[in-house]
This record gives sequence, structure tokens and C-alpha cells, in this order.
Amino acid sequence: MPSNTTTAPYDLVILGAGSGGYATALRAAQLGLRVAMVERDLVGGTCLHRGCIPTKAVLHAAEVADSAREGAQFGIHATVDRIDAAEIRSYAEKVVGRLHKGLTGLVDSRGIEAITGTGRLVVDADGPAVEVDGRLVRGEHVVLATGSYARTVPGVETDGVRVITSDHALKLDTLPASAIVLGGGVIGVEFASAWRSLGVEVTVVEALDRLVPAEDPEISTALSRAFRKRGITSVLGAPVGRVEAGDDGVSVQVGGKELTAEVLLVAVGRGPSTDETGFAEAGVQLDRGFVVTDERLRTNLDSVRAVGDIVPGLQLAHRGFAHGIFVAEDIAHGRGLIDRAPTPVRDVEIPRVTYCEPEIASVGLSEAAARDLHGDAVETLTYDLGGNGKSQILRTQGFVKLVRQVDGPVLGVHMVGARVGELVGEAQLITGWDAHPEDVAGLVHAHPTQNEALGEAHLALAGKPLHAHA
Ligand code: NAI
Repeated sequence: MPSNTTTAPYDLVILGAGSGGYATALRAAQLGLRVAMVERDLVGGTCLHRGCIPTKAVLHAAEVADSAREGAQFGIHATVDRIDAAEIRSYAEKVVGRLHKGLTGLVDSRGIEAITGTGRLVVDADGPAVEVDGRLVRGEHVVLATGSYARTVPGVETDGVRVITSDHALKLDTLPASAIVLGGGVIGVEFASAWRSLGVEVTVVEALDRLVPAEDPEISTALSRAFRKRGITSVLGAPVGRVEAGDDGVSVQVGGKELTAEVLLVAVGRGPSTDETGFAEAGVQLDRGFVVTDERLRTNLDSVRAVGDIVPGLQLAHRGFAHGIFVAEDIAHGRGLIDRAPTPVRDVEIPRVTYCEPEIASVGLSEAAARDLHGDAVETLTYDLGGNGKSQILRTQGFVKLVRQVDGPVLGVHMVGARVGELVGEAQLITGWDAHPEDVAGLVHAHPTQNEALGEAHLALAGKPLHAHA
């Protein structure tokens, strides 16, 4: 039996210190709540240590390789002598290390008790608590923030050498000469893109009939075309069959064909880390492993909330941050510490960026989702980056696609092209604030920026195109 039981010395006990967990902790501490946070690994979780940050560092290194290789078209002649995977890894680890140091300092400075150990949710007559190594850490509220893990498919066993996940891929000290990427979703296309730039022969295998199936289909078409030009092969509409790993490589049956490569990267989605957490035993309602919550992120158990990837919906670090801030403020509001109740986080307002080359950025509804809601009262406009000066300077191709309700607000913005991820901030203000194209058309965009493409798209949708063919 756990010993050292105490009655709620904390206002909040958080299980998991990834994006969702630490954001809850930081905001709650800022609001004057007493916070403990339990983590078995490192503060920062998947995003900082195995996800967003190191992968984007690798993607940046890949972009540097592309720039050097393609310099001649700008009159800069250079050759790439050597790509050193161990040095790329060390650069990525330094970025992670600096951010981790900053984050642990922040957690300490806010007086948050960071407890290292594997925690389990326990609910008894005194309420919820987290049990860590026999100690019960009790809080008035418990926030579940255990995150997600890389899933695999039945019959495809990862061995960390021939069949790997993104976790292993980030630890490689040498790059394979060839790779099959299983899954053409976000992780799949980001790794395919980075590896191709770093000289790997890449084939992407996607069960559905297009890459990035969660994006608007026109984005998928543009990405497929760009990938083809870059020499990335895509095998679409084909779920993987038998996989055999040997000493020299891996062979994969797909749609009646056999593909071979040095490694197979499995990127078929992430599952919720809710096994062996005590959630089910404590009576938390789960749906296929995800924690069921209401819009205020309350579980079915009193005083137990959940944030981040274990809550069904977009599995994105910034959604975790938003969940954490929301939960901290909602609890503080319940205690009378702040006047205004926070607004629940809505997935439709969350921006999505995929950092492949070309980049993809979107927010709001796809055209299909908008038509499901509004029928024929939907209008779209696609502005080609061919008319955008800065994009021409960068020699990138792509577009900005707007989806609006007829005579109504902009419902969705979908973009593809180099660096368009940086444009998603304005796009989210437009959809989040229900702006009409005419409102945005009145805003002056700086010239020459890629941001201008957003402005021009809205000018065109408002019926007064400038650098756009009618
Ligand atoms: P995903 O859900 O984006 O893509 C998985 C893909 O694998 C899907 O397109 C699916 O159809 C395909 N698939 C599933 N089973 C298959 C099979 N047997 N054969 C062939 N294809 C199969 O998941 P992914 O890429 O693993 O990413 C996991 C999560 O991490 C996502 O929710 C994503 O949003 C998040 N993430 C976000 C990033 C970003 O914001 N830039 C970067 C990386 C990950």
C-alpha cells in the first residue's frame, strides 16, 4: 500500500511533463496555485526531445543542404562535400539541450515541484492522487497529460535498426542510402522530405489515395507533384503487406509489388499513452485508449482533467499548450482567483503546419468540410504564388486557397509553398475572428513578402484582384 498519504498539499498534480503538462503547470503556478508535476523522463516530453524541435532542426539542416546544392540557379556555385548525420544530430541535440535547460529553469523559478518517477492515477475516498514509487501525491485536482507514442501496424515489428519509428530516426549517426516511409501523414512526409534533401532514396507508402490525407486534396496534389520533382517516390492507395527485415535491409510487400530499402520508417500515427497509467482502473472513461472529456477537458471523474494528445483530436504541441493554459485558468476561475472563465480550445481554430519542402500550412475548414456544413453556399479562391514577388525570388511554387461562406466569413485557409508556415499566424486570425474577405482586403500587406499572397488572395476574393489573373 502506498504510504505517506497527505491531504491535498497541492492544488494541482499533473501526470506528465510534456507540452500539455508543463503548460498547465506554468500557468497554474503563475495564478498562485500549488503545483506538483510527475514525469518519468525529461520535462518537455515528445515535442522537445523526440518530436517538433529535433525534427525541425533536421529539416533545417536539410534546407541548408538544398540551398547549397541549388545555389547555382541564383548564381552561387557551391558543392556539398559531405553530409554528416552525427553532426546534424549533435546540432539538433544542442538546440534541444538549450531549450530543456531554459524550461527546467522556468519550472523551478515558478516553484513547481517536479517529481521524477512513473506515476499512476489513483482515486480513493479522499479524491484523486498520483502514486509515484509508493508515495501518494495528492491534489485537489489531477491533470492527466501522458501524451502519445508512435504506433505501428500489426505484423510490422520495430527493431530500432531496420524497422524504425521517428524516435529511432532522430538517433541515427549514419543515414541509410535508401528508405521506405510507411505512412504519408505529417511525420512521413517530413522525414521523406528531410532524408531526400540529405541524399537518401525515399519511397513513401500511403494506404489512402493521397499524401497528407488530412489536408485539403489540392494541397495533396501539389505536394505529390513537388515530391515527384524532388525524386521522392510515392506509392498511394496501398496498405502495407508483409514486411521482412534482414541483415542488409528490409523488404515490404505493397499492392502486389515488393519494395526493398535499407530501412523502413513506420509513421502511421500516434496512439494515446494511457496503458499502465491506472486510468482504466480508476474508472476514467476511455475510447480506443483516448481519454473522453467534455469541452472544458473534464473527464468523467470529479476533479480529474486531461490535456494534450490523450484527448481525441489534433495531436499538436500547441494544442497541448492551449489545453494546459485553459485547464489552469478554468481551475483558477473555479477558485475565484480570476474573474473571467477561459474559452474552451476548439480544434478548428488550431493552425497546422507540416514542415516538408514545400511547406504546408492550414487553419479552419477544408472545402469539403465547409460544403458539409453550408452546402452550395461556399466559395473558394486559389491564389497562385506565381503572382507573388517574394515567392518568385525564392523560386518556390504553391498557392493560397481560401474557403469562405458565400457573403460570409473566411472559413478555411490552405497554403503550400516554401516558408508558408510563417503565414499561418495571420490566417488563424482571419478564420478565428470570422473575418470577411472585404475586411482583410482593407489591410495593407508589406511588399515584397510572402504574406502579401494572403492579402492578394483576399483582395481577389473581395472582387478586386491586383496581381492575380481573373
Ligand atoms: P498521421 O495520422 O498524420 O499519418 C499517418 C498516415 O499513415 C495516415 O495518412 C494513414 O493513412 C497512414 N497509414 C496508416 N496505416 C497504414 C498502413 N498500414 N499502410 C500505409 N499507410 C498507413 O500520423 P503521423 O504522421 O504518424 O503523425 C502522428 C501525429 O503527430 C499526427 O497527429 C501529427 O499531427 C503529429 N505531428 C505533427 C507535426 C507537425 O505539426 N508539423 C510533425 C509530426 C507529427
